[in-house]
Amino acid sequence: MTRADVAQRISELREQIHHHDYLYYVEARPEVSDAEYDRLMRELRDLEARFPDLVTDDSPTQRVAGTPTDVFRPVEHRVAMLSLDNATSAEELGEFEARLGRALPGARVGYVCEPKIDGLGVALLYARGRFVRGATRGDGRVGEDVTANLRTIRSVPMVLRGALAAADDLEVRGEVFMPRADFAELNRALEEAGEATFANPRNAAAGAVRQKDPAVTARRPLDIFLYHVSRAEALGFQTYWDTLEALRAAGFKTNPRTERCDALEAVVRYCERLERERDGLGYDADGVVVKVDALQQQRRLGSTTHHPRWAIAFKFAARQATTIVEAIEVGVGKTGILTPVAKLAPVELAGVVIRNVSLHNEDEIRRKDVRVGDTVLIERAGDVIPYVVQVVAAERPAGAEPFRFPSRCPACGGAAVRPAGEAYWRCTGSACPAQLKERLRHFGSRRAMDIEHLGEKVIEQLVDKGLVKDFADLYTLTVDQLADLERLGEKSAENLVRAIATSRERGLARLLNALGIRLVGERVAQLLASRFGSLERIAAAAEVALGEVHGIGKEIAGAVSAFFAEPANRRLIAGLARAGVVTEAPDAGADGPKPLRGKTFVLTGTLATLSREAAREAVERLGGRVAGSVSKKTDYVVVGEAPGSKADDARRLGVTMLDENQFLRLVKS
Ligand code: IVH
Repeated sequence: MTRADVAQRISELREQIHHHDYLYYVEARPEVSDAEYDRLMRELRDLEARFPDLVTDDSPTQRVAGTPTDVFRPVEHRVAMLSLDNATSAEELGEFEARLGRALPGARVGYVCEPKIDGLGVALLYARGRFVRGATRGDGRVGEDVTANLRTIRSVPMVLRGALAAADDLEVRGEVFMPRADFAELNRALEEAGEATFANPRNAAAGAVRQKDPAVTARRPLDIFLYHVSRAEALGFQTYWDTLEALRAAGFKTNPRTERCDALEAVVRYCERLERERDGLGYDADGVVVKVDALQQQRRLGSTTHHPRWAIAFKFAARQATTIVEAIEVGVGKTGILTPVAKLAPVELAGVVIRNVSLHNEDEIRRKDVRVGDTVLIERAGDVIPYVVQVVAAERPAGAEPFRFPSRCPACGGAAVRPAGEAYWRCTGSACPAQLKERLRHFGSRRAMDIEHLGEKVIEQLVDKGLVKDFADLYTLTVDQLADLERLGEKSAENLVRAIATSRERGLARLLNALGIRLVGERVAQLLASRFGSLERIAAAAEVALGEVHGIGKEIAGAVSAFFAEPANRRLIAGLARAGVVTEAPDAGADGPKPLRGKTFVLTGTLATLSREAAREAVERLGGRVAGSVSKKTDYVVVGEAPGSKADDARRLGVTMLDENQFLRLVKS
């Protein structure tokens, strides 16, 4: 190959690679396999290695090139990079339109709306269609030369196409950002490597763009949307919308959510819609930028020293804010778990005043190193519950001490322990009033005993006045006693007594859930209730028997067994029974016939007319029990379709086998 042939081939390869980069990074619809792409890249690298004088800055091989710098060269923007004026409501958008009307009397104004990306503003310079320089916004007048870093962003075209490629020098502006999913992934990797993580995608993007070593920037998942062409009118464009089309035609990435709006009502609707859909964008947007479409109108409107008069940013409700941790308090849950809560200087976040934020547990506080007096960044994202993103380290007051988790319960003074391997400290005080209040709240809650009128304020007083020491005491309360409580008149006292009385009939499953046994929620309560039929029988059951219930593992069985082993809990159960609380499952009447008492069944294979659960219930209703495996003590093995090895076991051990019909006859007889 002659030198001219090589130059020709290099140029072909570059063109192809630029094209594939465009398809992959801008349009997200690649046409070649990674292997094919790699092959083109390798061929180009080889040729450039043999003819180093043919290497140019805009070659795809030079995306990651240049040596680390200590300082970025300052760049004076030829046209200042201004900020934007803000609107936070439809009314303020109306005022914006009124200002436009005054400046352009009688004119019809059309708009273009697009997401306001929460990223980093940059200016890219192209000379005759080739990328020559990229700069940060800086203070708007002077930015920093970050050409080598911006070149690593694969959606930044190195060579332009179409009309814009002909411009002698073209300045375009846009926003560099990091997609949310990539941000999460980056933070995970940083955390794993023991390195500092970023508070949000914006900081991560800014950090990457200002990296001293372009090779590091290249590994950061950055992307860019372009939204501005400087001196567009001089280039022959009439509207901003046309300018955006030219940007797309040149190979730039523009925001696909951009829309033309012919009147302010449409602008307002766009803003409302985008705010609702902001979580689905895949990147952080903190508002909508509304721009006057006609460039001639833009020119007549002009700019202040701070912002153009032809654009405004409609800001979404903020979801991050900084505030001060005034105290860290520790609360007590119904099972004695101690939860640290940061008391904050009140701050408004997405329309709600935030005063408290959970710090979850000791490890979480240590990981984020939250201290009293710290300024913290808090966030309330789509999921509504606010949390601490990070401490603003620079604002820590001198002398702020690391938080020491208390070793005593703040409510009862009882010893607090943190069992090995667990994340939580627990209060061990058996008479801890804070635990009792939490347990009572749970006892009366909707899905437990459903006691209307048993509110927080009432519980507070009942415990503090010593009227209620356990659940059973609730059932002995009188109207007179209750009417004495603050804010509870005669009428309400009567209602409450009636509500408590009615709750006696809720049945075993709800009662079990209401007791607040560790690891026993609604589902486990159901299982235990239908399996054992009465509270007394559960209390008497051996731990292994509990563990044999399908859906209840060793751990739950241990927790249930431990609960009933506690003398205080046994007294409680006796007390509840004395108070007339129903401690049996509705259809497990203790006096119904129990012909299968003492008989053990094992089920295997699929039954045609009833489910496993129904078969189990039938056995249990008649006093029998269902075990998980066959032994010499098994009385019957019920064999359905496609039985497992249990049928073999039964045969080997000589256990009576029943088919479905025989089983049905047995339970129906
Ligand atoms: S237009 C003269 N459009 O927001 C044109 N800016 O708060 C002014 N920004 O400095 C910018 N998304 O860095 C425009 N779609 C968008 C934007 C956007 C984000 C940034 C930009 C600007 C800042 C002003």
